[in-house]
Amino acid sequence: MNIDTQLEKSIIAAGQEQVLKYWNELDEQGQKQLAGQLENINFSELSRLIPEYVTSRPKTAIPDDLAPAPYFPMEPADSKQAELYAKAEARGTELLKSGRVCFLTVAGGQGTRLGFDGPKGTYPIGPVTGRTLFAYFAQNILRASKKYQVKFTWYIMTSLLNNQATTSFFAENNYFGLDKDQVFFFTQGTMPAIGYDGKLLLGAKDSLSLSPDGHGGTLLALRKSGALERMTAEGTDIISYFQVDNPLIKMTNPLFIGLHDLENAEMSAVMLAKTGPYEKLGNFCVSQGRLNIIEYSDLPKELAEQTDENGKLAYIAGSPAMHLISRDFIGRLTAGNELKLPWHRADKKIPYLNENGELVTPAEPNGVKLESFIFDALPLAERTMVLECDRDEVFAPTKNPTGVDSVESCRAMLIERDARRLERAGVKVARNADGSVNAKIEISPALVLDDEDAAALVKAENISEISPEDTVVFE
Ligand code: UD1
Repeated sequence: MNIDTQLEKSIIAAGQEQVLKYWNELDEQGQKQLAGQLENINFSELSRLIPEYVTSRPKTAIPDDLAPAPYFPMEPADSKQAELYAKAEARGTELLKSGRVCFLTVAGGQGTRLGFDGPKGTYPIGPVTGRTLFAYFAQNILRASKKYQVKFTWYIMTSLLNNQATTSFFAENNYFGLDKDQVFFFTQGTMPAIGYDGKLLLGAKDSLSLSPDGHGGTLLALRKSGALERMTAEGTDIISYFQVDNPLIKMTNPLFIGLHDLENAEMSAVMLAKTGPYEKLGNFCVSQGRLNIIEYSDLPKELAEQTDENGKLAYIAGSPAMHLISRDFIGRLTAGNELKLPWHRADKKIPYLNENGELVTPAEPNGVKLESFIFDALPLAERTMVLECDRDEVFAPTKNPTGVDSVESCRAMLIERDARRLERAGVKVARNADGSVNAKIEISPALVLDDEDAAALVKAENISEISPEDTVVFE
């Protein structure tokens, strides 16, 4: 088959004809695949992006008026705020009960740092049972569905790298007890990898080297997949967004949901006090009256280390990537099936076909992958809201095998959270001299969503004590 002449013209005009080097060697299926990939690329936009992001190094412009962002503190500052929080909590509960909330997990990433071969959500994180990340979320939703008497819909974004494996995993596990139609998978878009010379790289004779377009791709993928339409049909208009790596997520936080609604926010965010100037969290900032997140790698040292008059970090507010996003806001942003968020450059070692058509895996970075980030939508929102939360209750990311934000730290935090819940319900839990829990505890999220559920469990099971070095599972 011949390549479409219009497409060929735009490829040549963009100086990217190397992508067709093997065209005549390909069978029809190979030609179809490559043509399909090329048709998805906007070559004139690419010609604009390459000089800006690839052949020169983009500078993240830090606005002159940048300042730390304001936020609602974890504990209300005065009686007026306490009243607002009480009202918000009631409002959040009402919104959950009325079925206006749905859940969204971004799970399209590669999880390279974890060194785990497979979708990250299939990682066995449970400290005793090896319950997977996906199982944590699913069982959480199962419990929430019972508690609020709502059949919540869970949107899961996958990518070309893991869609098949993810959907099969859910089918094999019978959707963890959820109804199959409660789970809506959709696949994010791709971006072609670009060599340092500005040329698109081939990953095979019949394929570009493609990778996911970043979680900024979520917004457009929600529209293109029909997810937004489904939300409209189901009457859900508040999307509770979280990352696949955090089993401690409190996706049904009534205070957060209620404040988002009372503040008429289009997009809201949870904030955590950073553990130090260089903790790997995005930083909440304001510029021109708009909320921004500046990624940890982009915040200049002098700003990261800046302190206020009390010696506290000025840029203390870190983002655990938990958001509430209004459906109409996404509808507005993606009208016309287009969304322009800024691109971010990542230098990578990208396997490519060399002159002789052999696949080479480089030892050093040889090109660039471009990604967009969902938090770049924050400054586009007319109204935003940021709420401080207690890290120990909401955030235990699994990013590395050991050390900070690791499998180890996440498991320890899950045990501590479950222990605190039992203690608040009156159980005596064995602790070490340093205060850490001296037992292995795992409570199924299908049983306990909050303190109220924990108290009911303790009563039903007649639990009074967790002894030293016990291993206890409540399923
Ligand atoms: C991310 C945030 C950072 C935040 C931190 C909290 C970015 C750029 N930074 O850092 O601001 O403080 O989490 O833990 O996100 N994903 C996709 N598709 C993609 C890329 C990523 O779905 O194309 C998903 C991943 O599956 C994961 C999440 O997005 O669930 C975050 O990606 P990751 O690369 O782990 O981000 P971090 O650098 O850890």
